[in-house]
Amino acid sequence: MTATQSIQPVLRSDYRPPTYWIENVELEFDLDPRETLVTARIAVRRNSQQPSDTLDLAGENLKLQSVAIDGKRLDGDQYQLRDDGMTLLNLPESCQIETKVLVSPLTNKSLSGLYQTSGNYCTQCEAVGFRRITYFLDRPDVMTTYRVTIRGDKKTCPVMLSNGNRIAAKDLDDGRHEVVWEDPFPKPSYLFALVAGNLKCHRGTFTTRSGRDVALEIWVEPQNIDKCEHALVSLQKSMKWDEDVFGLEYDLDIYMIVAVNDFNMGAMENKGLNVFNSKYVLALPDTATDEDYMLIEAVIAHEYFHNWTGNRVTCRDWFQLTLKEGLTVFRDQQFTADQTSAAVKRIDDVSGLRAGQFVEDSGPMAHPIRPESYISMDNFYTATVYRKGAEIIRMYHTILGAEGFRRGMDLYFQRHDNSAVTCDDFRAAMADANNINFDRFDRWYSQAGTPELTVTESWDAAKSEYALTMTQSYPTLPGGNPGTEDRNPVPLPVRVGLLDAESGEEIEQHSGVVMLDTETETFTFSGLSAKPIASVLRGFSAPVRLRMQRDNEELAFLMANDNDPFNRWDAGQTLATKLLIDAANGLADGRALELSEQFRDAFGRVLSDNSFDEAFKALALTLPRESVLGQEMDVIDPDSLHTARQFYRRRLAECFQSELTSLYNELAADGAYKNDQKSINRRRLKNVVLAYLSVLDVPACISRVSNQFHQADNMTDKQAALSLLANLDVPERDAALAAFYDQYKTDPLVIDKWYAVQALSSRPDTIEHVKQLTSHPDFSVDNPNRVRSLIGAFTQNQVRFHQADGAGYKLLADYVLEIESANPQLAARLVAAFNSYRRFDESRQTQMQDELKRIAEHPGLCKDVHEIVQRALH
Ligand code: PHE
Ligand code: ZN
Repeated sequence: MTATQSIQPVLRSDYRPPTYWIENVELEFDLDPRETLVTARIAVRRNSQQPSDTLDLAGENLKLQSVAIDGKRLDGDQYQLRDDGMTLLNLPESCQIETKVLVSPLTNKSLSGLYQTSGNYCTQCEAVGFRRITYFLDRPDVMTTYRVTIRGDKKTCPVMLSNGNRIAAKDLDDGRHEVVWEDPFPKPSYLFALVAGNLKCHRGTFTTRSGRDVALEIWVEPQNIDKCEHALVSLQKSMKWDEDVFGLEYDLDIYMIVAVNDFNMGAMENKGLNVFNSKYVLALPDTATDEDYMLIEAVIAHEYFHNWTGNRVTCRDWFQLTLKEGLTVFRDQQFTADQTSAAVKRIDDVSGLRAGQFVEDSGPMAHPIRPESYISMDNFYTATVYRKGAEIIRMYHTILGAEGFRRGMDLYFQRHDNSAVTCDDFRAAMADANNINFDRFDRWYSQAGTPELTVTESWDAAKSEYALTMTQSYPTLPGGNPGTEDRNPVPLPVRVGLLDAESGEEIEQHSGVVMLDTETETFTFSGLSAKPIASVLRGFSAPVRLRMQRDNEELAFLMANDNDPFNRWDAGQTLATKLLIDAANGLADGRALELSEQFRDAFGRVLSDNSFDEAFKALALTLPRESVLGQEMDVIDPDSLHTARQFYRRRLAECFQSELTSLYNELAADGAYKNDQKSINRRRLKNVVLAYLSVLDVPACISRVSNQFHQADNMTDKQAALSLLANLDVPERDAALAAFYDQYKTDPLVIDKWYAVQALSSRPDTIEHVKQLTSHPDFSVDNPNRVRSLIGAFTQNQVRFHQADGAGYKLLADYVLEIESANPQLAARLVAAFNSYRRFDESRQTQMQDELKRIAEHPGLCKDVHEIVQRALH
């Protein structure tokens, strides 16, 4: 393959059905670290819609041993071999193709295809990893049934797993054994999985609502066998929830989850055999935080929900990825909302969307949730496809209500079970099941960028009428990528409520959803005795940036009175954003920093309000992140933002020192660790309060943090205290870091936290520490979790990554170049931290651009990184 061949983009408009379908496949694996022999027997039949006797099979990094058609071995001139696959000519109507190839799991560091992790074998096939295992029609619209024979060494591979049911097993000579698996459900190749090695099983069961018993098996390395119960319970809850809410039942007699240490993503929904990053399985109170517990539950649910939204109904082509991902994220969000608090979950999700997806959607990687082209599909597992995709699904739900949405889902499964379909098919099912026209909704799939929703109000006292004029527009985007030009208005469900300006009471008859279907429209509310205060975009009912001129009094009023909890929180964030940006801009003009009295009073009211649950209160007391604030500046000034935000934190802590101290003491008196929601919420609030207290230069405050660190009986409290100490320049910091390392040095997931707290430190010497840590004996470029915990976390540290001298940029670029050839996917994710370079001042822009150019010019650069970098430089 020449370089130019590999960087040709794939276009959505180029979709063609395959020339042949696969009727079934038999795979045989003779496992060996360097020379695993893979034999594939594929029964193919010509696609009558695409008459051709030529068949292109994808294949990469394979050592071909032989090809045979219907048992007859082909000579080299009877097929064409390329670096990215092979072409078979003059094939009959139907035949069996047998290929034998060798692959090398031990040296496969890309973590795509068949690879070794901690000495065990494991596969990762989404999106296009199956072609690194055998020659195949490696595309999701080719669904077929698999029968898989695995042969391996009994000592090193006592356990050998694949999809579906285990139908046979026997011992072989030479200390080897063989296991046969058969999956009765047709599936695309990206859902294939194989795992083999020395693993232990944590077992459970689930009885489906129709009475079928399902064996649940969680497979982990032996030393982790005591850390699986939370994952198991999460799986059982997910199975029950999908039955209760969507009527969806599990369809095999066995469901397996395997935890592996080296994994590029969170987890993978392979049919009946999920493979998980161990981070999203293993948990004990001493090693995992409350957030980890929550994420484990959410990721287990997400992968489980894929069994219907992804596996039973899959994607026709990779441009449709959001069909399964947006929908499944929406489903896991609803699940978590039901397990915990809907308001808090919504706030957490929207914060994540704003911090990640909004940034992506305004930079060089901006793309529609259904992209138009890609060079490497791996680069399109993005916040846009996942999180914005979930927001688009949520809008159907908002418009149709839970019942209408369920009708649409039922019709979707009725029409498309066991097939590979498109986003248009999903939209049609939602429309047809509810007799609603969703044609305009198509724009949400084809346009990139975050719409701005500008809202102005007017009050006509004579008519007792209040009106809201809503106007939508798109900001211009850099780059000229598809979906970024000629954009049209999108349908926007805007949830609105009106509050009585005197009493703060909701004016019930005017609460609801209005649809903005055009560029601009005025919505009038009549019969009002006085000008109300409007709460707009409640629950964040559409993924837009809301622009509404509000004075500080009004925002404070909404913070105190809005009975939509999301907007109540958001009013506080908007107020804080206004003030902090103003303070940061003021610094540049030489204005002194000053805490706004209005904000101080509003903060004090939240602090003393006992009507909130503790988790909500924790959120309401937290200032917007620096990366979210930066988006609101014309030119991001990381230093003045950091200074202004730190100043606010310290002034608030000084003003409310006694209230914060007594609240901390009250929460800290909770006693021994408990894992119920109330205790989790209280820990969350306690640690937000501790964070305020930690910025006071008072010895008592520092020893409070240090005491919490040393006395904590759970990782939540320990990590929270450690990350606060990491920001300080006190002896307690080094003592705590050393003690933490010493206590957990044999637990890689905990050591990841140790790296991350240091990489996220706001100390001015952070970059030096990060550099030192890259040569620490535990640092390994082969383990994605470790790389993300150090380098990935560092790029999230806005004030330190963007250090004015460019040292942070150089560090990142050096690392990207160090890992790109071994693990392109990981390198491409890291390099995306440069994507916002245009938002910074000249000097930072130039420095980032120079690093991007240095990467772009690297000889033999992998195509994943190439794609990100060339879009950025465009
Ligand atoms: N499909 C996985 C999920 O969202 C993510 C994934 C993508 C994992 C690609 C591995 C590789 O659940
Ligand atoms: Zn998913």
